[in-house]
Amino acid sequence: MARLVVVSNRVAVPDAASRAGGLAVALQEALERNGGLWFGWSGRITPQSGEQPGVVEQGRVTYATLDLGRKDHSEYYNGFANRTLWPVFHYRLDLANFEREDYAGYLRVNRLFAQKLRPLLRDDDDLWVHDYHLIPLGEELRHIGLGQRMGFFLHTPFPAMEVLLCLPSHARLVRSLCAYDVVGFQTAADLRAFHDYVTVEAGGAVLSNGLVNAHGRTLRAEVFPIGIDVEPLERLARASPRLSSIRRLRKNFGACKLIIGVDRLDYSKGLPQRFHAFQRLLETRPAYRGKVCFMQIAPPSRSDVPEYLELRRMLEAEAGHINGRYADFDWTPLHYLNSAFQRATLSGFYRFAQVCLLTPLRDGMNLVAKEYIASQDPENPGALVLSRFAGAARELDSALLINPYDIDGVAESLARALEMPLDERRQRWAHMMNAVRASSIDRWRESFLAALSSAPFGSEGS
Ligand code: G6P
Repeated sequence: MARLVVVSNRVAVPDAASRAGGLAVALQEALERNGGLWFGWSGRITPQSGEQPGVVEQGRVTYATLDLGRKDHSEYYNGFANRTLWPVFHYRLDLANFEREDYAGYLRVNRLFAQKLRPLLRDDDDLWVHDYHLIPLGEELRHIGLGQRMGFFLHTPFPAMEVLLCLPSHARLVRSLCAYDVVGFQTAADLRAFHDYVTVEAGGAVLSNGLVNAHGRTLRAEVFPIGIDVEPLERLARASPRLSSIRRLRKNFGACKLIIGVDRLDYSKGLPQRFHAFQRLLETRPAYRGKVCFMQIAPPSRSDVPEYLELRRMLEAEAGHINGRYADFDWTPLHYLNSAFQRATLSGFYRFAQVCLLTPLRDGMNLVAKEYIASQDPENPGALVLSRFAGAARELDSALLINPYDIDGVAESLARALEMPLDERRQRWAHMMNAVRASSIDRWRESFLAALSSAPFGSEGS
């Protein structure tokens, strides 16, 4: 059996103090199976990028992480990854920066990763590279002579061709994707966009057996919707009423129906639209005043990137405005929290909240939607209001699907969710729970690795 090598920008080196989330646990399980290596950034910023990766051995798994120099970190991570690719992949061309220096830094760090990873690799390794930070890594590894099987999974959306074409380096990026043997996407829409680009722009072809032929290579491009670790989360949620935090929550919100939202503080999540929709609910349906509370948990993210700072400022002002306008001496409508919570606490928040409101303008998957469903009490489940532009909407089509740009529509769906009869909630929840179970994180990992293990692919069937 091949050894698995995972490469990602962030590496979850296990430590006793922190409880890793679903993705880290899932990858660690696969790494432990036949021994494995996880390679990536150490999370440290130093004057110069590291000469040698720091190595930690834990059981059968080696964690090798590299420090990034200030300039590399700024151009690769803050710059090209998060001010160019992230906004473009999330359809926010208005927020995208196209600086040549950032692009050069992005390529430089990918090359550096390839050089530092190479001595750690064995001939029979299978490599699994994650996310938009590392698209060129496979091609860089091929340049320095590596022939191992290599897969890539994109956690974000892959944008429609017309949007991708605005990225000056679109051709090179797609060529880099074609250096992998397997390229995984979250949804059929992402795969369609990739096919579209390959056939229209790159002179490639989608063969009758589904393989893609482009840039002189044959690869498998497929949909692998990511999921969650369902049973552990169900157990946490069931046990959550015993937590003191959840007892306090019940005491505090006991007289209110609670709407919850949980997201990184990111402009792709549609948070201003969400606040406006809640405000519209209070404005147009005064009976809810004093009876409904909205708790938005939004831990800050990428705080060195100006667009994120601007969003933070804007949301603080909006939250102040809504509470200033509607709060009463014994009721605060909007609870806006910039802190992160432990998984167990979150599962309790999810179980207690009657409604979960998620309004991303564009999202690769949105695992909060799946976590909310898995945390519910089957006898009395809550209702999910979910943007149709989240990848999760494809599987969770029994949610109340909304268009986050349509503020009145979202307010209407919120009211519907708050009033939804128990029978309807149970029925919708059962459908969604089936879907959540069917696309668990284990299934995601195993189907991707199975696809990778059957590479290389011939080009017959064209
Ligand atoms: C998204 C990306 C991940 C990233 C995460 C947190 O989910 O797809 O690759 O790790 O956001 O963002 P950060 O910039 O803090 O790593």
